[in-house]
Amino acid sequence: MTTVDLPLLPLGRGTDPLSERGVECPGDLPAPSDPDLVARAQAAKEKLGDKLFVLGHHYQRDEVIQFADVTGDSFKLARDAAARPDAEYIVFCGVHFMAESADILTGPEQKVVLPDLAAGCSMADMARLAQVEKAWDALAAAGVQDQVVPVTYMNSSAAIKAFCGRNGGVVCTSSNAEVALEWAFAQKGPDTKVLFLPDQHLGRNTAVLELGHSLDQCVVWNPFKADGGLTAEELADARMILWKGHCSVHGRFSPDVIDELRAKVPDLNVLVHPECQHEVVLKADLVGSTEFIIKTIEAAPAGSSWAIGTELNLVQRLANAHPDKNIMFLDRNVCYCSTMNRIDLPHLVWALENLVEGRVVNQIEVDPQTEAEALVALERMLALPGKSHKD
Ligand code: 13P
Ligand code: SF4
Repeated sequence: MTTVDLPLLPLGRGTDPLSERGVECPGDLPAPSDPDLVARAQAAKEKLGDKLFVLGHHYQRDEVIQFADVTGDSFKLARDAAARPDAEYIVFCGVHFMAESADILTGPEQKVVLPDLAAGCSMADMARLAQVEKAWDALAAAGVQDQVVPVTYMNSSAAIKAFCGRNGGVVCTSSNAEVALEWAFAQKGPDTKVLFLPDQHLGRNTAVLELGHSLDQCVVWNPFKADGGLTAEELADARMILWKGHCSVHGRFSPDVIDELRAKVPDLNVLVHPECQHEVVLKADLVGSTEFIIKTIEAAPAGSSWAIGTELNLVQRLANAHPDKNIMFLDRNVCYCSTMNRIDLPHLVWALENLVEGRVVNQIEVDPQTEAEALVALERMLALPGKSHKD
């Protein structure tokens, strides 16, 4: 049960309140130094056969991604999960909100497992249901709620997706944000406004760079200030009401590093994810989802130079897979997503071996009402016409 109004990182909860992990692992978690981990994961996968479907997000570690039956960005993985109704167990190597979406999009008999429950997402935690409902009431008090369509990024809790479902809104991902916003702006006539949750950067980048809105038409709703820190006039003039959330990984990339790298590397191409700050996206040559980033590098000519602004596991994997291209990371420092990295080989082996024994550990189950309402918003997304050129 995952839809209570609590942050998604359940640190300190459960049977061991002092444990950083905060997760009960019945039986022993294998030691990371166990030389048999790869063989154990292979053996467990073989025993489970077609009953098992392992999904791996592009930001997962290599040690985990080697066991994924499919890899993808969050949009592709949501579709892949929905397309495997025969798999009894879906093991999601990704983060909590992705596993929730997989649970919503799969049948009631299918069980979704997240190998480490501490694999949350700091961005998703920045929009909590109580905060969003308070904002919604404030929009009503300001006299604009009737014009507002809520749109939430996939990187949000099931409770926020359900909020969008019951209030005429939709879910989007980084690969379809443009078409989702076009859909939203068509819902209430020319005066439609969008409340975009929880990533201000994806919302701003898409509204300004893809839909042609001006920066002045984008306002930021700060949930820690009264009325979001906005006046009724500011709300009346706005087209995009951006929730004050961001990705702690992509938020680190900065425009001065782009300048420095361009000065050092001739003919450099800068390729970034739309969760980066607007100033970074403005200086980049190309912007798109993780799936788009991969396809772009695959299609790039040998000898070309690329600075990539996304999570480091993916950038490293691309660099290893394309030694004929000059691939570099767009930050001075190491920049992994710490929660994505929580899923490691010991947790994967632990989850798979328990499934072999008939024990479903770390199951992600969204309660039926939240699931039904979130499904409305997810199905609206899956029914959107075409796809963005960023796919
Ligand atoms: P995509 O998978 O949609 O590219 O999103 C990146 C991300 O931050 C996932 O957590
Ligand atoms: Fe969340 Fe950012 Fe990590 Fe993705 S990369 S899971 S958005 S913190």
